[in-house]
Amino acid sequence: VTSVPSPTLPVVLRRGSSRPLHVQLAGQVRELVTSGALPPGSRLPSNRALATETGVARSVVEQAYDQLLAEGWLVSRRGSGTFVADLHPGGSPASAPGEPAPARRPAPAARPLVRLGTGNPWVDRRQDAGWRRAWRDVAAAQPPRGYPDPAGLPELRTEVAAYVSRTRGMACGPDEVLVTSGTTHGLGLLLTSLSAPGERRTVAVEDPGYRAAVATATQSGWDVLDVPVDGEGLDVQHLAARPERVDAVYVTPAHQHPLGLTMTGARRLALLAEAHRRDALVVEDDYDSEFRYDVAPLPALAALDRSRVVYLGTASKTLMPGLRCGWLVGPAELVARLAQLRAARHDHPVWPVQRALVTMLREGHLDKLVRAARREYAARGARVTERLGRHAVLASPVAGMYATLLTPAGVATAVAEDARRAGFDVPLLAEHARTDGRTGLVVGFGGLTEAQLARVLDVLSASLRERGSGAGEPDGDLALG
Ligand SMILES: Cc1ncc(COP(=O)(O)O)c(C=O)c1O
Repeated sequence: VTSVPSPTLPVVLRRGSSRPLHVQLAGQVRELVTSGALPPGSRLPSNRALATETGVARSVVEQAYDQLLAEGWLVSRRGSGTFVADLHPGGSPASAPGEPAPARRPAPAARPLVRLGTGNPWVDRRQDAGWRRAWRDVAAAQPPRGYPDPAGLPELRTEVAAYVSRTRGMACGPDEVLVTSGTTHGLGLLLTSLSAPGERRTVAVEDPGYRAAVATATQSGWDVLDVPVDGEGLDVQHLAARPERVDAVYVTPAHQHPLGLTMTGARRLALLAEAHRRDALVVEDDYDSEFRYDVAPLPALAALDRSRVVYLGTASKTLMPGLRCGWLVGPAELVARLAQLRAARHDHPVWPVQRALVTMLREGHLDKLVRAARREYAARGARVTERLGRHAVLASPVAGMYATLLTPAGVATAVAEDARRAGFDVPLLAEHARTDGRTGLVVGFGGLTEAQLARVLDVLSASLRERGSGAGEPDGDLALG
């Protein structure tokens, strides 16, 4: 039998007060129950534990508990302890002492819709061996006594530098890597570090684009300039013609979010030239380049100009968003400055997560997971293309874990409504746009179970076929230009 540790209670008893100790204790516990601080079902400390904790005799606690049991605030279950009783909505005891509390039947909850999010990766429990190994290593490791290094665990920075060099053609060392809590965290840190008091700064973003980046920029006190996207990526000519001062440009060159295309080599060079002309920083969000099925991804944009491009990577797609772990790669001085800013506000990367990631990278578990997921996404992407590509225009060959369909606005909303009735929440392309007029649906297929995927493809293809999406009819308004 394992002993359950006793919870502590925030009670303070005053000796020498005119109120006896057991009355004080009963009053304070009653107050904790009626205020909701101790909800129904909470276990109370044992007589002995509470007596030790508050420095009184066990009989004092016994008297106080007896009083509250008699009043119906507490119930005692033989062999397992004393608990807060179920209460009526008005906050009074539900039943007379000794009577069983009436069971409360919760109202049936509506079944939540299955969201086809672009960012939900596939998780296969058969791939858990690496994780088990990683968490065992965490348990065996010596945690730091104080706050961990604000730039990240040195061994993780080394592993990330090797991973980025190997997979993204971008040779870098550990001092150029800052461990973050994900892409948006890295972006927020960077933008905050570049802010100057009393001065407005502007970041140019892709439109349609990643809404969380826009929210991060705005919350960091930056203005946002929307720049259209054409078939080659962010429209640099459009940017060049804008009279506003632009301090940074945020792009997703490997896999434009949410249209899915790759920024061409020529467009990359044009973007760097324009950034140079404006003395603006380029922020590269490389969220899912591990998952390409047609051709290998181009090397990172940052590989072309390490001093002007700050690179943001994440474990959210390769492992899981719940990990909240990513990395920023930039010049060593910038990394050191960002680490200093973080230390000043105790924004240190979480130690167990970093330690687990060291094992995942060092022992090749991440590579193995990526290979398995890539096979799964390639097969799923081909199915989505085959089933939906007949009825709607795909914005680009499918990569990553979502497919973007271009349809007239009315078709998109009608199909999304049909999907909703079948239990699925399919994001509209318009949700990702601020000024852009392209419309359609963004079908995230990573996080679905096999059964959900089969069902939603049936629903979407039937709905698209019925509502006529205009597939195959060139439509100037929809084309990527
Ligand atoms: C464009 C883009 N960037 C980055 C991310 C990942 O963000 P984070 O690393 O903060 O989880 C996502 C996830 O959906 C995304 O769509």
